Formats: sequence, structure tokens, C-alpha cells
Amino acid sequence: MIALTLAEIAELTGGRLTGSPDATVSGTVTLDSRAVAAGDLFVAVAGERVDGADFLPAAAAAGAMGAIATRPDDALPCVVVADPVEALGRLAKGVHARLVERGLLTLGITGSSGKTSTKDLLGQVLATAGPTVSPPGSYNNDIGLPLTVLSADERTRFLVLEMGARGRGHIARLCRVARPRIGVVLNVGSAHLGEFGSPEGIAEAKGELVEALGDDGTAVLNADDPRVIGMAPRTVARVLTTGRGEDADVRALDVTLDESARARFTLAAGGERHPVTLQVVGEHQVANALSAAGAALAAGMTPAQIAAGLSAAEPRSRWRMEVARRNDGVTVVNDAYNANPESMRAALAALAGLSGSRRVAVLGGMAELGPDAAAEHERLGRDAVAAGVDLIVAVGPDAVGIADGAAAAGRRAGEESVHVPDRATARELLSEVLRPGDVVLVKASRSYGLEQLAADLLAEGDAA
Ligand SMILES: Nc1ncnc2c1ncn2[C@@H]1O[C@H](COP(=O)(O)OP(=O)(O)OP(=O)(O)O)[C@@H](O)[C@H]1O
Ligand SMILES: [Mg+2]
Repeated sequence: MIALTLAEIAELTGGRLTGSPDATVSGTVTLDSRAVAAGDLFVAVAGERVDGADFLPAAAAAGAMGAIATRPDDALPCVVVADPVEALGRLAKGVHARLVERGLLTLGITGSSGKTSTKDLLGQVLATAGPTVSPPGSYNNDIGLPLTVLSADERTRFLVLEMGARGRGHIARLCRVARPRIGVVLNVGSAHLGEFGSPEGIAEAKGELVEALGDDGTAVLNADDPRVIGMAPRTVARVLTTGRGEDADVRALDVTLDESARARFTLAAGGERHPVTLQVVGEHQVANALSAAGAALAAGMTPAQIAAGLSAAEPRSRWRMEVARRNDGVTVVNDAYNANPESMRAALAALAGLSGSRRVAVLGGMAELGPDAAAEHERLGRDAVAAGVDLIVAVGPDAVGIADGAAAAGRRAGEESVHVPDRATARELLSEVLRPGDVVLVKASRSYGLEQLAADLLAEGDAA
């Protein structure tokens, strides 16, 4: 973070300062007392199990220069506030405003699927043009976004922010913390459909990003998604479109996939054409790459620089299409970070594109789909069969419908379409049936923890 005195932090957050006003925070801002280093600011947030305020002495002992907390502690200077998360947002807002004055360019990304993937591509592309803050992982909420903002400093030229929403008003709130000049909307799917009620409700919420842009800004919209391009009238910013169609400003031509399901295409933008070879896996990454390209173009990069940056960009965040081959010749694809119907289909398409003898999909439930959940799981089972999956292992009670759907679409129940109660049973079954040459996709919603199953499967094959 930029260096700030405790007095400045109290002013920006509207908190009451106890202890020395001149103490200066020069390090990072953290919520985890175990991660505190000398000079840091500790923000004591009450979680489900522990109250951060209990760790104020520990943070002080680790060298924290000060804290934001709901109660003071003699161990260190404190800025006392009613709501530390809200204070974190205010602090980030204040710091962001100062950095923008110094020329920082902020880019925001939202959409139902692919925010982190696109942020990782864009962050790496922009980094070839100037110092960029775009941390790995999915820091897209009221805590993660301010922390990302606060990790920028006077040297930062580009700040890439992931913006998530679980309801109306969330993205508008994030934009009040750090208003982007460039806003990217990827797609409108069914992630968190349960909370939003309808895809229109999701479009309404995601569009808050383009509504927040000023007339000096650029909205980068995916023209291949009607609900996204439909947001154009909601912004005063310039609109730049991306997609496969002829009308898009930034296009991908001649898309092909290699045997590792990595896409190659020609990037057409600004009257130029340049080849791109992606390192990330799956055709869905073409759309993400185009969105990243549109944003980088709006940020002033040339199409040639962008194509080179996209081609050099590597996977950065864990558990998203992580492809690894075991010593025994089984390939494990760990895409267990999260799942919704669209991302499941994208992953199944990528599985189909990977070379191997048999395709195996180990799928857990998709959370938060609302009343359509049962039908969506069954449809997914059918789609997996249509995508050419040979063996489907549905894991956990919520995934029963996937096995039913696969069986209805022709996979022999109990043999080619199997439902197992938990991860341990899945693992036992797979260690019996997997053969060299098999390609195994592991995917479910975050809460099902299937990334551990993927890790176990990998370790097992290497031990063999
Ligand atoms: N453009 C896309 N269209 C459909 N599915 C995608 C797309 N990009 C990524 N995915 C799928 O979605 C999964 C999650 O990707 P990613 O983490 O980038 O999304 P996210 O929007 O950041 O998710 P979250 O809301 O959990 O933060 C990936 O593992 C992949 O299966
Ligand atoms: Mg994410």
C-alpha cells in the first residue's frame, strides 16, 4: 500500500484513532494475523468462527503498525470503527482516488464465468506494458476487491479488478470503491441463479459495471452474448465489442484447438491481424482472451503487443483446467475451482478436445441453482454423454441427477454412469477402473471440495 499515517487512515475510514497518529503504515493490509509482517495494517474482521479483534495483540507482536477494529487494544494504535469491512472499502476508495490522480488506470471485469481466467490473461498482457496489479485467485467481493486496490502503489500503472455479484447492487458498490475506466462484461449465465431469480436479473446486476463508467471510459462487451451486448444502451462510455462475429471490433478468426485443447487463432483488431497461441486450456478461453484483448486495446496497447502477451500468458490461478499427466499415463484435469451449467459445459468441451483413449468425468454438484437445480443436473448428465464422455462418476448426494441423466442418455447405469456417495468412494472406484491413456476431468462447485480428489488422484498415479 502507499504509505499512510494512522491519522490519515482514521480520516479516510471515519474511525476514531487510539494511539499515535503519526504511526505510518508502509507494508500491506491483511486480515490474517498470522500473515502480518513489520509495518503492516491489520484489519480485524469478525468471521464465522473467530473474531479478528481477539488477535490484535498477536498482530502487534508480529509487527503490525496499526489496526482497524471494532474495539481498541493497548497493544497497538487502532482505528476504531463500527464495521471493519466497510472501513476497508472506504480506505481503498481513498487510496484509489489518490492513485487515479497520479495516472493509475483501473480495469474491472465481471460476468458469470471466466472472471478470474480473464483477469489472469489481461493482467499478464498489461504487465508487458507497465507495472500491473492483478493478483492470482478470485478476490472479487467486498473484502477481496479493496485488498486488491490496496496492494497497488505509486508505481502501479494498471489495476485489474475482478468484480463478483451475488445480488443486485453488489457491483455498483464495488464500483463505488474503485470506479474503473474500462469495464469488461464477459457473459450472463446461470451462476447464482438461485439468488437472482432469472437470467434477466443477472444481466441487470452485471450491467451495473457499465453503468458506473464515465464518458471517458470504455465498456468492453462480448457481442456473442445477447444479454451482454444488450447492455450497450446502459452506459455513457464508448462501447468496444469482442466476439467471433463479423461485426465485433476485436475478433478471433480461424480458431483451432491443438491436441492439448489449447486454442490458436488470428486476432483481428484495429485493422491488423496477428496470430495467437494460448497456453491456457479450453475453447472457452478464446472468448476470455478476446475480452482481455479488447480491454488492453482500450488501455492503449497495440494489437501486436496484445497478441504476443496473450500467447505468453500462463495459467495463474489454481484448479482451473489444470492438466497434469501421471507417471502411469493417466491425465487428470483439475477444474474443481467452481461450477455452474455453462462452466461445466465449457470444461466438458475441453475434455472432448484432449487426446486420450477414454474420457472420464468425475462431477459433483452445482450449488445455488435455485428451483431448476434437479433439471440442470440431469441435463448436465445428458450433455456429458453428448460430449463423448465414456465414464461418468457423479459424486455426492446433490449429483445424483447427473448420473440419472447420463444413464437416460445411454450410459449403462452402475458401469458407465455411476453415482457414489462421497469423495472417498469415488477415489476407491477410480483407482480400480482408471487405465493408462484415460483423461479424467474433476469438477464441481467450490463447496464440494473436489480439488482434493483431483490432487489425491494425481498423487496416487505417481506413487504407482
Ligand atoms: N468464458 C467462459 N465461459 C464458460 N465457462 C468458462 C469461461 N471461462 C472459464 N470458464 C469455466 O469456469 C470456471 C471458473 O473460471 P473462473 O475462475 O475464471 O471464473 P470466475 O468467473 O472467476 O468464477 P467465480 O465466480 O467463482 O469467481 C473454469 O474452471 C472454467 O471451467
Ligand atoms: Mg473468480
